[in-house]
Amino acid sequence: MKQIQYFCIFLALLTLCSASSFLFSNNSQDLSYHQQLNDLSKKLVGQRYNQQKEFKYFPPQFFEKQGLYSSNIHGNAMDQNNTFFYHLIREYVGCPDSNMFVTNFVLSALLDCAELGTIEIDQDMFEESIDAILEFRDKNQQEGIPSYSFWLQNNKNGTWYSYPQNLQKVAQMIKIMPDWVKNIFTKMGLNFVTIADQIVDAFHLPPDTDDSSVNIALGIRILNSPFIRQSIKDKWIKSNHNLQGYYQLLKKYSYKPFDSSNSSVNTLDVRTYFAFHNYLQTLNKTYNYSVFTTWIRSTDDQIPQMIEIPGNTNNFDCSVISNNLFGLHNVLLNSNQTVINEIFDEELQGLYLNSTNVILYAINSYISKTHPDIAFLYYPSVYDFYWFVARNVHLLNSNYDKIPNQLIKVVADALNKSMKNQGTIYLLNNTLADKDGNLYWQEFLGIYNNKTYNEDVTFSTVMALNALIDTWTISKTDENGKVKRIFDSLTPQNVTDTIQKGMQTLLKKNSFSNSNQNAFFSGSFKSLNTISFYPMNVNHFINGTEFDPHTAQMDILHQIAGVRGVINSDEYQQMLKQKWFNLTTIQYFTGYSSQYISYPYWSSPAITFSMGMSLISKYQSIENIQSNV
Ligand SMILES: *[C@@H]1O[C@H](CO)[C@@H](O)[C@H](O)[C@H]1NC(C)=O
Ligand SMILES: *[C@@H]1O[C@H](CO)[C@@H](O)[C@H](O)[C@H]1NC(C)=O
Ligand SMILES: *[C@@H]1O[C@H](CO)[C@@H](O)[C@H](O)[C@H]1NC(C)=O
Ligand SMILES: *[C@@H]1O[C@H](CO)[C@@H](O)[C@H](O)[C@H]1NC(C)=O
Ligand SMILES: *[C@@H]1O[C@H](CO)[C@@H](O)[C@H](O)[C@H]1NC(C)=O
Ligand SMILES: *[C@@H]1O[C@H](CO)[C@@H](O)[C@H](O)[C@H]1NC(C)=O
Ligand SMILES: *[C@@H]1O[C@H](CO)[C@@H](O)[C@H](O)[C@H]1NC(C)=O
Ligand SMILES: *[C@@H]1O[C@H](CO)[C@@H](O)[C@H](O)[C@H]1NC(C)=O
Ligand SMILES: *[C@@H]1O[C@H](CO)[C@@H](O)[C@H](O)[C@H]1NC(C)=O
Ligand SMILES: *[C@@H]1O[C@H](CO)[C@@H](O)[C@H](O)[C@H]1NC(C)=O
Ligand SMILES: *[C@@H]1O[C@H](CO)[C@@H](O)[C@H](O)[C@H]1NC(C)=O
Ligand SMILES: *[C@@H]1O[C@H](CO)[C@@H](O)[C@H](O)[C@H]1NC(C)=O
Repeated sequence: MKQIQYFCIFLALLTLCSASSFLFSNNSQDLSYHQQLNDLSKKLVGQRYNQQKEFKYFPPQFFEKQGLYSSNIHGNAMDQNNTFFYHLIREYVGCPDSNMFVTNFVLSALLDCAELGTIEIDQDMFEESIDAILEFRDKNQQEGIPSYSFWLQNNKNGTWYSYPQNLQKVAQMIKIMPDWVKNIFTKMGLNFVTIADQIVDAFHLPPDTDDSSVNIALGIRILNSPFIRQSIKDKWIKSNHNLQGYYQLLKKYSYKPFDSSNSSVNTLDVRTYFAFHNYLQTLNKTYNYSVFTTWIRSTDDQIPQMIEIPGNTNNFDCSVISNNLFGLHNVLLNSNQTVINEIFDEELQGLYLNSTNVILYAINSYISKTHPDIAFLYYPSVYDFYWFVARNVHLLNSNYDKIPNQLIKVVADALNKSMKNQGTIYLLNNTLADKDGNLYWQEFLGIYNNKTYNEDVTFSTVMALNALIDTWTISKTDENGKVKRIFDSLTPQNVTDTIQKGMQTLLKKNSFSNSNQNAFFSGSFKSLNTISFYPMNVNHFINGTEFDPHTAQMDILHQIAGVRGVINSDEYQQMLKQKWFNLTTIQYFTGYSSQYISYPYWSSPAITFSMGMSLISKYQSIENIQSNV
């Protein structure tokens, strides 16, 4: 009986992820905006969990939270010759996940469409999705503080902790799984599945600033939207009214390398430190220098087996920081002066400015080429990053006259400049052309050994175009509340040409019929370079016992490996020549696809569809091209 159970789960893993079709349809046909939007709308509905489903071993069924849009945890499995079999595994084998993050982006994209007049929002479905999202609020926090967690929480002895139902159940199952089944997983390149029972503790994630800030951004848009009914607004504000409490937490847990009074906040993940050492060592050592971190927790106040930072040390991620900025910009542009004065105090202003400068450094130094894996620790797709920044640029440019404060204007100008220069250069420089001269983008899924299966082409093209359009257009609302996009009058011809030729790719009939997979986000361990073989000056177990950082075995669950403060450059160069955890540091980026390492990533066709809808809605609203179609 037990063996049948394993086999059923195994089959379920294989089958539950069916999304795309193999068939190549007639691709010479162009669709109107309206037809393509209609088509995407239908596909998106198919990605929604319309009813609650509980986890069951037999007949096998995964947990699905009603109202959420789906995403699946896949493994980036690859073999030496990049064979078709592994393409099928990447595309079709995955574990469904119920997180708030994906749904947040889908709802935000639907709001874009409603504002641009291309769809009507189904209020009942929207409300159900918001109900689901609100359940992800960190229940350890006082009522009304919008601190959110990626997964739903369970309670043990009065403490709430993250509990990813499907992953936990799969991990429990693997504990008792016979070796022959584990061998199949290993053969399939899903070796991390077979150690899920050992890494199950890594699932006890603290709440994070990423989920929290996108919730704030969405909520503020909802409150201001004429397309959302009052009952939804009331619910949102009831759960999230204490913004000040939230920003206190962000200040408290920010990274402060020059604050010697607290070793928890002046210590950084060794990987982040490595990627940003050159930048950090240029700073003036002012004690109040601070950057938004990912986890709303510090090493000091973890709760064993319940609330733990993976690797026990906080980090920063440029994509997460961009989302932090987006949440804050929405707050600052939509609050009265009293609220702004209350929240945006001197400390938060410093945190905001210092964090923005990290983003500017990342864009201007093209870190997306040298170390995207570490600079965007949780986002394998670099186009995520460019779009996350671009939507700040669009928001600020569209509301420039409403900007309540000189510092925000300085930030708006600086982000604008970087995205219109280095950001745009990166996006234009990475286009590919099909035989008809239409442009597209691709990243890495399915690309290895000079072969590609075009797995992330549609998603990458959607995200890169959203980034370009958000960088170069502003929104104007007419007297009927309908929004239009308008190009900056200084937009260069190569930008408008690129957008137009990219849109042609997406307006093909079959453009969303092939793969809609993506690596929208991931855990932090996702390439050879994201394993912690980097110099450190903090090296002890959680219980305080020190270990030798050069020779010890890595034990991610129990060790703290970090960099305290900022290390002098000569010294750091010396340290890079030493061994860490008995291995030589690999300094250059080795790529995301590899036959030697397989890691989990989250793919969500719902993101490809909804972001595609948002993009087409923006594009069709651009006045001066409307007449062409
Ligand atoms: C593809 O569609 C075009 C336009 O509708 C049509 O002319 C052509 O015959 C079709 N080709 C195939 C192979 O179906
Ligand atoms: C990969 O392809 C090469 C050349 O076709 C072949 O010699 C080799 O055996 C293949 N490797 C595997 C693991 O199948
Ligand atoms: C809850 O706390 C009590 C007393 O502190 C302890 O005996 C018990 O084991 C705890 N239960 C769990 C599930 O941790
Ligand atoms: C250090 O600061 C963090 C974040 O404010 C806090 O959680 C922790 O308790 C502090 N540690 C000490 C020893 O004061
Ligand atoms: C460091 O301080 C000096 C003197 O105040 C100033 O000129 C310089 O711009 C500062 N550098 C940074 C990176 O803030
Ligand atoms: C400012 O906004 C807050 C929150 O919306 C509100 O409670 C307060 O009354 C407003 N103050 C003024 C002066 O408008
Ligand atoms: C960091 O913020 C402080 C204000 O808290 C400011 O004086 C300093 O110039 C900022 N430095 C950078 C590099 O952003
Ligand atoms: C642009 O592409 C060219 C050729 O592929 C490359 O040499 C150059 O470094 C790229 N520049 C940027 C900023 O990406
Ligand atoms: C891939 O293509 C490059 C350049 O064409 C070539 O140098 C390399 O040997 C090829 N790699 C494989 C594994 O075929
Ligand atoms: C696009 O055009 C601008 C202005 O004409 C030019 O400065 C820039 O180099 C061009 N960019 C690319 C990637 O071709
Ligand atoms: C601290 O933890 C490590 C690893 O779990 C263990 O080897 C060591 O003995 C512990 N030290 C003390 C003093 O408990
Ligand atoms: C360190 O690596 C060397 C080979 O590079 C190996 O011989 C040695 O056993 C390793 N030490 C430990 C403690 O793993």
